[in-house]
Amino acid sequence: MFAERTNWNLAGNRLSEALARHRAGGKRLLDLTASNPTECGFAYDSEVILAALWNPAALRYEPNPKGLGSARLAVTKYYSARGVAISAEDIVLTTSTSEAYSFVFRLLCNPGDELLIPAPSYPLFGFLADIQDVKLVRYPLVYDHGWQIDFPSLQQAITPRTRGVIVVNPNNPTGHFIKDKELAKLNELCAARGLALIADEVFLDFAVRDARPVTFAGDAGALTFAMSGLSKIAGLPQMKLAWVIASGPGELKRQAMETLEVIADTYLSPNAPVQLATPVFLEQRHGFQRQVMARVRKNLAELDRQLAGQKTCSRLEVEGGWYAVVRVPATVGDEELAIKLLRENDVYVHPGHFFDFAAEGYLVVSLIAREEEFAEGIRKLLAAF
Ligand SMILES: Cc1ncc(COP(=O)(O)O)c(C=O)c1O
Repeated sequence: MFAERTNWNLAGNRLSEALARHRAGGKRLLDLTASNPTECGFAYDSEVILAALWNPAALRYEPNPKGLGSARLAVTKYYSARGVAISAEDIVLTTSTSEAYSFVFRLLCNPGDELLIPAPSYPLFGFLADIQDVKLVRYPLVYDHGWQIDFPSLQQAITPRTRGVIVVNPNNPTGHFIKDKELAKLNELCAARGLALIADEVFLDFAVRDARPVTFAGDAGALTFAMSGLSKIAGLPQMKLAWVIASGPGELKRQAMETLEVIADTYLSPNAPVQLATPVFLEQRHGFQRQVMARVRKNLAELDRQLAGQKTCSRLEVEGGWYAVVRVPATVGDEELAIKLLRENDVYVHPGHFFDFAAEGYLVVSLIAREEEFAEGIRKLLAAF
């Protein structure tokens, strides 16, 4: 009855089954994967947020394929605050970054065409690509006192069917930003081979150090699609508002926008109340981001304090984002280890292989978990080795 593209194995993995059993048993759980910002104890200005949704203008239907002008203008202001000039005409609003990906995949790829994705990176891409009939090909990131793109391997991964290169800036879960030199190389490579750059920048604002990272928004060197949204920037994933910005060589960008507009027009996904409230929601990011960064820095300091007290485990460098990668002895596979930590220590972490780490011995922890839970979870985790 059903299409092959969605013929997934839907049986839960062993870790998710172990988690379900743990929860069903009513056992204590120190959740070091917690990354739903609305459940991590951050203070939201609920009156302002809810009042923004109460707007008589929401009673009118004004279909606009790119999204309401006022919301797109607010997005341009978000970028101008970073010193980046974006035209509202180059923005298409979507309900999520995932939807933005799917629009861009549809724009660029015929069935079976390929997109390059970083490894390690976050695991949503697989389903997104399957649904759009796109084949994902991994290019490795290498770690040497910090992560960087392995350009020779990236180049080798390019085939006649490659349509673009995906970058996550900063990446989830490695937490590293793309550097100026890498951006220049990516532009050169993509422009020379007729590939697009697809940049996921949902964590762009969460830099642990103060340096201002590069953004792909407005990048002119190659056809570029920069994506972000309220989910992470303002900690409002439930509001379902994101965007994609097209930039690059004039004629290519014009054609891309023309087609993106038709794709967006076919769905007209974002709803009126949320679009009308977007200027307010974006303003709310300042208070949210201050709290997140305070939490991230505190948890990172606690992790370092505890790591300093032992010799078996260490962590990789974190430049930004909400996660840290902990290096542990690879005595058993990552998944086995995560199950063991859950069963025996009540600690829930993500194993590195969820994110396509090249080797065993990596665990990923969320830096926005509540501070006490984080400290106790890390204590139990480290005591297990
Ligand atoms: C790197 C990255 N991109 C995109 C998303 C999804 O964002 P959205 O809620 O806008 O689809 C996530 C969610 O965790 C993410 O980690």
